[in-house]
Amino acid sequence: MNMDQLRAALPQWVEASRKYASEGVVASYIPELAKAPANALGVTVMGRSGEMASSGETDFAFTMQSISKVFTLLLALIDNGEDGVFAKVGMEPTGDDFNSMLKLELVEPGKPFNPLINAGAIAVSSLIQGDTPAAKTERILAFFSEAAGGASLAVNEDVFRSESATAHRNRSLAYFLKDNEVLGDDIDVEDVLQVYFKHCSALVTCEQLARMALVLAFDGTDPLTGRVVVPRRYVQIAKTFMIMCGMYNASGEFAIKVGIPAKSGVSGGILALVPGQYGIAVVGPALGSKGNSTAGVHLLETMSKELDWRIF
Ligand code: DON
Repeated sequence: MNMDQLRAALPQWVEASRKYASEGVVASYIPELAKAPANALGVTVMGRSGEMASSGETDFAFTMQSISKVFTLLLALIDNGEDGVFAKVGMEPTGDDFNSMLKLELVEPGKPFNPLINAGAIAVSSLIQGDTPAAKTERILAFFSEAAGGASLAVNEDVFRSESATAHRNRSLAYFLKDNEVLGDDIDVEDVLQVYFKHCSALVTCEQLARMALVLAFDGTDPLTGRVVVPRRYVQIAKTFMIMCGMYNASGEFAIKVGIPAKSGVSGGILALVPGQYGIAVVGPALGSKGNSTAGVHLLETMSKELDWRIF
């Protein structure tokens, strides 16, 4: 199916998936996120020359939330190499909720199992180079912007403040990491949390997110410019984590039903990619019990089935 055919097919798939929004609820544990439109569903698919097919509500910006963890992982790998990153986080899915602290206590040495759960992403935030939380945040945003093809991404300060004011569980996770010495003596817990909340609050549109996904689909090289944004090996690592735990404890079901690397966020966004072909962004704010967009997952499942995207 070429882009024109995809453009023609998308609206009916979006409308068929939209009803699944009623099976989910908009996240409210970060109060500011509760303002999102519950029945919205939008998708952008971008090909190697930047050609796009979009349908539904793709004109509103939303915060990346956990999708940002893929890109902070990539930046931490660039800054520290594999050994540096894997000294602080593991390589295994947890099967637990994304904000669980269970395994931090149960499994020695209390290192987060992977970089896509909250505890792991907080540890990764501590690995980003920069003298101050503001400098680290600026570097992260510059990297996100580069991956988005030079768009200038910014933080939604209202979402940042809302999360920071209510993040009792993330604070607990971070102090647990401090006690377990994953965050070393020289690291201030509140500084790390500030960086983490800020990158989760980075605003994107579907078009920008699809562009970021496109760079991953082409192994770290922006196919529009030929520029190497991330070394191929690091993208390989990120895509492996996306398959194993990108949709949290629904990742196995997603891998079987949809079968492409993806990462969700509690704002309802999902970044997905078809290797060597497409970068994809979906947004549908109503979430299922595992924290993934109900309509968004249904839409990706439909597209993957219709277009034979499964990689396995
Ligand atoms: O730390 C949090 O809870 C949010 N900033 C991000 C969590 C998230 O997106 C999980 N996604 N499904």
